[in-house]
Amino acid sequence: MATRKLLLLPGDGIGPEAMAEVKKLIEMMNADFNAGFETEEGLVGGCAYDAHGQSISDADMDRAMAADAVLFGAVGGPKWDGVPYEVRPEAGLLRLRKEMELFANLRPAICYPALAASSSLKPEVVEGLDILILRELTGGVYFGEPKEITDLGNGQKRGIDTQIYDTYEIERIAGVAFELARTRSNRVCSMEKHNVMKSGVLWKEVVTNTHKAKYSDVELTHMLADAGGMQLVRWPKQFDVIVTDNLFGDMLSDVAAMLTGSLGMLPSASLGAPDEKTGSRKALYEPVHGSAPDIAGQGIANPIAMIASFAMCLRYSFNMVEEADRLEKAIASVLDDGLRTKDLMSDGMTEVGTTAMGDAIVARYKALA
Ligand code: IPM
Ligand code: MG
Repeated sequence: MATRKLLLLPGDGIGPEAMAEVKKLIEMMNADFNAGFETEEGLVGGCAYDAHGQSISDADMDRAMAADAVLFGAVGGPKWDGVPYEVRPEAGLLRLRKEMELFANLRPAICYPALAASSSLKPEVVEGLDILILRELTGGVYFGEPKEITDLGNGQKRGIDTQIYDTYEIERIAGVAFELARTRSNRVCSMEKHNVMKSGVLWKEVVTNTHKAKYSDVELTHMLADAGGMQLVRWPKQFDVIVTDNLFGDMLSDVAAMLTGSLGMLPSASLGAPDEKTGSRKALYEPVHGSAPDIAGQGIANPIAMIASFAMCLRYSFNMVEEADRLEKAIASVLDDGLRTKDLMSDGMTEVGTTAMGDAIVARYKALA
């Protein structure tokens, strides 16, 4: 059995609490199913800054580059509001994305049947929802230069961010969108703002050309990103795969998260290009929810997004499809039984903490095997 090398970066806030539940899963899969996971742990975000003045150390960055996959918790919190911009907690995550070249960010928004009533939208709008937001993750306004605040000298300052997309960046994310659509309902909706942005004009043109050249079997539509946000809350089931840039993807995926009942439900996978020789790709898996400092340390955080991110890791990094399916089934089944963390709580359900939710999912996974 080959070893599977995982780097765990729990980070700040509820990150470590959520990661603790994944660690239980890993230990169980090693002990009971001989899964061969080898884990190392590192620091990212505010805790890394506290330890060595950087949001991720070079040593941990090297570990991330060498791992088969990185599991990431969350970063940030009010404690680090005053730290210099270059070493703020989020910078660690952005460095990982950029240096590992994780350009494709998959954010599936699935509404588990048991949670249709937990969404702020009507149950019929979200019941059975299964869409995938594909966010470009290494380009756009997150990384474009210049990125600065300049002093205009007349008592005014100017803040500048730069939105940049080159053809190859759009082509490769569009390619991933079409490939993924072929494994699903074969539909892609591309979102940009070509009505005000030159990068949007190019985005639309390149997606259209990529489609024509290689993927004309897939149904392609285009939508302005603002209208896309509106359609996501009006009738989200019209979508299958949504492909969009880094900033729009950040916003639209938070919107999509709420369709599923709670921000605590949405996992994500950030993938690089497959290696030409081995076919393996660099990858990082993280919940979309962030560090939630307001509830950190209370044992009430929902670990499901973190656990579902591990399921994506099994699927995309290790091709453990059966195990990934089983883990997702275990999550659904525990929810069917009425177990709810506080964020999902509704009348007649049983409220449990982070640990009890994790334990229940581990036990259900074993029972389903
Ligand atoms: C996300 C987060 C990050 C982002 C932050 C923490 C930098 O909001 O992954 O959605 O903006 O990409
Ligand atoms: Mg975000």
